[in-house]
Amino acid sequence: MVPIDNENDYLKVSAAPLLDKDKLLKSIFRISTFLTAPSNVDELMAKILDEVVDTMGFDMGIIRLVDETKQYLETKVVKNYNPEETKTAFSVALNIKEHDCLSTKVAKSGLPIAVENMNTDPRITETDRMLTKVYTRGSIMCAPLKIGDEVIGTIAAWCKEEIKYFTEEINLFLTFASQMSIVIHNTRLFETNAEKIRQLMILQEAVSEINISRVLDNHILYVLSNSALRIADADKVLVYFLDIEKDRCLVTDGGKVFIEDRKAYDKKIGQSIIKRTMDTGSIVVCRNSDDSSAIYPIYEGCSSEIAFPLHIKNKFKGALYLAKISDGYSQDQINILDILVKNAVTSYDNAIMHSMLSLEAESLKTEVEKLKEREDILLGFHNIIGKSKKMIGIFHVVEEVASHNTNILIQGESGTGKELIARAIHRQSNRHSKPFVDVNCAAIPGTLLESELFGYEAGAFTDARKRKIGLLEYANGGTLLLDEVGDMSIQLQVKFLRMLENGYVRRLGGTENIPIDVRFVFSTNMDLAKMVSEGSFREDLFYRIRVVPIVIPPLRDRSDDILLLSRHYIEEFNKKFGKKVRGFSKEAENILKNYSWPGNVRELKNIIERVMILQRIGTTITPDDLPAEIKVIPTQKYLNVEIEKFLPPLFSGEINFTSVTEKIMNDIKEKILENALEMSGGNKTVAAKQLSISRYKFIREQKKISKHIN
Ligand SMILES: Nc1ncnc2c1ncn2[C@@H]1O[C@H](COP(=O)(O)OP(=O)(O)OP(=O)(O)O)[C@@H](O)[C@H]1O
Ligand SMILES: [Mg+2]
Repeated sequence: MVPIDNENDYLKVSAAPLLDKDKLLKSIFRISTFLTAPSNVDELMAKILDEVVDTMGFDMGIIRLVDETKQYLETKVVKNYNPEETKTAFSVALNIKEHDCLSTKVAKSGLPIAVENMNTDPRITETDRMLTKVYTRGSIMCAPLKIGDEVIGTIAAWCKEEIKYFTEEINLFLTFASQMSIVIHNTRLFETNAEKIRQLMILQEAVSEINISRVLDNHILYVLSNSALRIADADKVLVYFLDIEKDRCLVTDGGKVFIEDRKAYDKKIGQSIIKRTMDTGSIVVCRNSDDSSAIYPIYEGCSSEIAFPLHIKNKFKGALYLAKISDGYSQDQINILDILVKNAVTSYDNAIMHSMLSLEAESLKTEVEKLKEREDILLGFHNIIGKSKKMIGIFHVVEEVASHNTNILIQGESGTGKELIARAIHRQSNRHSKPFVDVNCAAIPGTLLESELFGYEAGAFTDARKRKIGLLEYANGGTLLLDEVGDMSIQLQVKFLRMLENGYVRRLGGTENIPIDVRFVFSTNMDLAKMVSEGSFREDLFYRIRVVPIVIPPLRDRSDDILLLSRHYIEEFNKKFGKKVRGFSKEAENILKNYSWPGNVRELKNIIERVMILQRIGTTITPDDLPAEIKVIPTQKYLNVEIEKFLPPLFSGEINFTSVTEKIMNDIKEKILENALEMSGGNKTVAAKQLSISRYKFIREQKKISKHIN
């Protein structure tokens, strides 16, 4: 064998070329079009080989490419090979280092070889002759396919005749070879990029689908397994999950998810790549055909296996497994699968967290709801305790009217909670951040009340040294409660009404009209309607202030609330006095319920406070502990009708039975109507409703009675 020294040893060059230049140019042009229209590499190589063989007048041709391991030359296309030679060419991979033949020489050196007489040329070896019969005669040209300095393959073309190759022909052959190299390289780049793009698109689609999975169902596993299968172009997939807490395993092959007995499945995967990846926590790739590592393939015939670890906190441990019949996995595929797996694991973890949190949130919610319910019962509405129908109705009215600026009149006996309701209205309204001013008309003497309300200018009267802002001005933007409004003098009522109508105040001694924006709440325990009829309260003012009347019923009329309030006060005073009193006995509760509570809630609160001061720690309140004044036998409230007054004197002889009984009946009816009207704060509709009659009937009855009296 001739040593490979320099290029000239390989190229025995003649002087005069014999080429058809026109044909050649056309061929080069055709090849150049392949560069811009990339298609499948194998197809391209076949086309170029056709051009080379046909244009240059060769009889046969072969292209071999270096394989992925860079150790072998593999046949890619042949031209004009007979079937037997084709079979040999494709079945033998030439080991570049070990085999000595023309192609390996070219691949090793990166230099072309031209052989004029294969029969006698010493560079033709036994290997060459074994590969194809063609090497026994004729001439051959073999050139490397190179990208930069890297040899990616060889092209060889053979001619039956012995030919002296001209420099021009050799150069042309090399031009074809380099063009082919570029085309192969570009197409390969395009193919890898296109493949990478395909994989990335599957990844993107999978990741976005995985990320929206909030619930812990099998969707993540389904997307993971099916996307991995497509990215890897694999034939089999398995996702194996060991549910550590429940000691079972979840397995899917891309379809349904199966729950398997852990022990039975552990046996199945005992010597598999799945076990290996779970143990090592790293990606394991395995080609079972050349692996002696005692890993047994899960699927018969699928020799290329890969497994990725899936570890989720200390709940799940598992693997994504893929297997292929054909060759392995590119680094790109492994990288992309790794990203997919990491996303799936994170999402699965999130879904676990999410489901745990929603379970927790659910139980917290019920807990909060329970607490809130308890608080609602205890504290009711704005700390106003009450669950009686009447009180709930009042809370609704407050809620509804709070945001409007309407005047509100709260009526009710002393201690029923009028001030509490007034404050609740203020707090519930959008004025809550502005002042709430409470003026008790009964507590301030007439003229003083006027200057308190309206303010005065300096020198307005003897004592007025400095200017004083009135409470009406002070309450600007907020709410003013006029408590015990029934105690306002008639003169002040006139002035107050004017202020209400005009919407401004004028300080005493002043001339300036100061606009005010105040929401008024009035309260009284007097019967204003009656006062109007008696002339002690101005009718016009009465109608002006009672736009929304709220009547708080006395405590005795809402027995449901008596015990609720009593228990609330026990808790309050337990805290205050540290008594740990347990509550009331049944008998004590009955006494509380039956007492008429003329002082209403205030009285109840005071009595419980007194009882609690004396009560021993940790005991239950019994009737003995309650004050004597509330232990009265309940008496029915009777209508106080003086029948005697209607009875004619006994000595008068005749008694007109019809008119006497009619009179008595009328008096009773009048009382009932009066009571109802009193309860409704003068509202006939409400009063009529309370008596289960129509408003029309109510008025008719009133008229009938007055006619009778007259
Ligand atoms: N429903 C209720 N829930 C809790 N506490 C209440 C309730 N009603 C009244 N009270 C308490 O009873 C006491 C008297 O309430 P408030 O001063 O509001 O009554 P009032 O109707 O304005 O009385 P008065 O007519 O004497 O001015 C206060 O201590 C108040 O906290
Ligand atoms: Mg009050």
